[in-house]
Amino acid sequence: MIVLKSPEEVRKMTRAGLIVGEVLGSLKEMIGAGVTTKEIELFADERVRALGGVSAFKGYRGYPACICTSVNEEVVHGIPSSRKLRGGDIVSIDIGVYLDGFYGDGAVTIPVGEVDDETGKLVRATEEALYLGIQQAVEGNRLFDISHAIQRHVEKNGFSVVRLFVGHGIGRELHEEPQVPNYGPPGQGPRLKKGMTLAIEPMVNAGNHEVKILDDGWTAVTADGKRSAHFEHTILITEEKAVILTKYN
Ligand code: MF3
Ligand code: CO
Repeated sequence: MIVLKSPEEVRKMTRAGLIVGEVLGSLKEMIGAGVTTKEIELFADERVRALGGVSAFKGYRGYPACICTSVNEEVVHGIPSSRKLRGGDIVSIDIGVYLDGFYGDGAVTIPVGEVDDETGKLVRATEEALYLGIQQAVEGNRLFDISHAIQRHVEKNGFSVVRLFVGHGIGRELHEEPQVPNYGPPGQGPRLKKGMTLAIEPMVNAGNHEVKILDDGWTAVTADGKRSAHFEHTILITEEKAVILTKYN
């Protein structure tokens, strides 16, 4: 069942989303060569708490950290560690916040210093795909209109969309119905309705779409070792343009 949110519930999700956006937007100031992913974790956790939120990820199905930090060929769910970022790397930071009964979820991929042209294109195409998907997230459209817009843009750029992980409904739970795949046939899937809240999150591989999970039980990496990028927003469906609840500067 897809849960529609009342205006009061939307207000609460807006507050959770604001914290996600605020923290995502502040990461650029501290990310650079030599910074460890654990330092990003500590920075983000402190900011989330200072803004009154609680990490949505820590303890979720046993996940051991507050955020996910996925570097280069890591697709999603990388666990913060003593690994130092190097110039030319990319790192995806995924942050979930719980506040007053509701969740917000968002992610960005940040280049560390100068990256090569192919990597720059991968990051740009993934972010563009997210916003093209969001443009389709309007009352009356179908769910897979979002999916298709993302897939089309990614494949037009010569990249591939990850199949194993998908976006999701979000609200009182971090993961609600419906699943929001980043691929699919336009004009199909559930009709989008005002009050639906979705986490749309394209995961895009430079090579083929296959991923495998490392022995830590979490870190998803590309099977071919090529790089992967990830962007995510929590959005609210309305009769007009979707409202992005996890906006950042
Ligand atoms: N944003 C991701 C998702 O929505 C990360 C959650 S997995 C967790 O699935 F274990 F880290 F919480
Ligand atoms: Co998510």
